[in-house]
Amino acid sequence: MSKTLYERLGGADGIARLVDDAVDAHLSNPKVKTRFENTKDIEHAKKMSREFFCAGAGGPETYTGRDMLTTHKGMNISEEEYVAVMDDILGAMTKNKLGADEQKDVLAILYSLKGDIIHV
Ligand code: HEM
Repeated sequence: MSKTLYERLGGADGIARLVDDAVDAHLSNPKVKTRFENTKDIEHAKKMSREFFCAGAGGPETYTGRDMLTTHKGMNISEEEYVAVMDDILGAMTKNKLGADEQKDVLAILYSLKGDIIHV
């Protein structure tokens, strides 16, 4: 049987590394850094993001955070910021030596959430 995206991303450990690297990239990306510098509890947001990606990629974890619309409502996130965040995530995937197929699959999931995240 073919592997799940969760397995192809390296399971919970691989996804934890990805979230760490993506958030580090956000914190040094001039387009979005203030969003994350101003987050009260970034460690909690990272924990929730790990759960979110694990569950969304087919892992056994349960997501215990807020839904995407509730989380991002009122932030008035622009298309440009959204693209910047996706670029950071793809950059973190390249850094972790994840290939084009995995990047394509992750991008498709991220893109499907766009309507709950920008201009809400
Ligand atoms: C598809 C893309 C995205 C996904 C999957 C995503 C996912 C998440 C998740 C799972 C959380 C934690 C929720 C919780 O704490 O209950 C979160 C928090 C957050 N996200 Fe996003 N996000 C995305 C795009 C963005 C963008 C484009 C921005 C802004 C540039 C952004 C800014 C934030 C901030 C600032 C928080 C922390 C909120 C807080 O704790 O007060 N996100 N996101």
